[in-house]
Amino acid sequence: MKRTSIILGVATLVALGGFAIAAQGADLPNIKVLATGGTIAGAQASATDYGYKSGAYDVNSLIKAVPNLDKLAVITGEQVANIGSQDMSDEIWLKLAKRVNAVLAEPGTSGALITHGTDTLEETSYFLSLVTKSDKPVVMVGSMRPATAISADGPGNIYNGVAVAADGRAKGKGTLVVLNDTIHYARNVMKTDTTSVQTFQSLNRGPAGVVHTGKIEWFEPMDKKQGKASEFSVDTLDKLPRVDIIYAHANMSADLIDAAIKNGAKGLVIAGVGDGNMTTPALDALTKAAKSGIVVVRSTRLAEGIVLRNNEVNDDEKGFVASGELNPAKSRVLLQLALTKTNDPVRIQKMFYEY
Ligand code: DGL
Repeated sequence: MKRTSIILGVATLVALGGFAIAAQGADLPNIKVLATGGTIAGAQASATDYGYKSGAYDVNSLIKAVPNLDKLAVITGEQVANIGSQDMSDEIWLKLAKRVNAVLAEPGTSGALITHGTDTLEETSYFLSLVTKSDKPVVMVGSMRPATAISADGPGNIYNGVAVAADGRAKGKGTLVVLNDTIHYARNVMKTDTTSVQTFQSLNRGPAGVVHTGKIEWFEPMDKKQGKASEFSVDTLDKLPRVDIIYAHANMSADLIDAAIKNGAKGLVIAGVGDGNMTTPALDALTKAAKSGIVVVRSTRLAEGIVLRNNEVNDDEKGFVASGELNPAKSRVLLQLALTKTNDPVRIQKMFYEY
């Protein structure tokens, strides 16, 4: 909902439990910023120091650091977590997803912006895109350089992220990821470079759009199920099924597969070589696992391409699921949610086609 604010000059509102920047001018959208930590909130000892601590700044500081944000939207902030995203957990995912749903259900909220570390941003964004029960825009941003760095990229990413969250055309597009002037669908985006600001790429399909200093161009729509069309919900969940990823390589043994099963994995994703392939001992161990009711998804350790069903490995015979376009990290997310509904590999394969 848009709101008319009568404000003289730049005003700062301190709201209950959070921080608000009151926008100048009328009829601006209300965007809720949910902060979770990451480099975007990171601090170095000095601007040229190597190394930094993730999650050193809180949501209020992040918002205040962005010039003219109040011209785009009425911003309120909330700290959901303050971690490096390498520590992202099922527990925080569930907490965040429930907060996103609650915030978007408020009639006054137009959209949500989530700040997040870049390491697991591709997983959190895909998780949210599958469990958010609203058409209102959800945008995730991070940064590759800490807040104190020379040419910090965080403030620009927040500015562009708010512009996208405030854009009516972002409605119904599922969770979006905005970094380095590019808009990505959560399902497609992947971190590809350890340090470059150009790290996020939608390799198989290309980006959802571009955004330059708040000016947006949208490209192709997303044809996969997400948001309100998704059958998954976190409402009644307080934990997620355990799914492990096993990385395939030359001379791979069955040892790590056996260890995952012994430790309680209900699903396994193999980051296979090439088109989701693996050594004979690994294949035999996964075949045995699938026969015992553990759901096995074949993905690939390669950055691009599609893992085709029954191509090199006979999935029908072995009871496997082929991941299609989903990389191992995203396959794990979808498999965790799929396992909240069924452990039938045929039904789960259908989900991998649809989502
Ligand atoms: N370990 C990090 C994290 O994901 C820092 C990387 C980043 O945010 O860019 O939080």
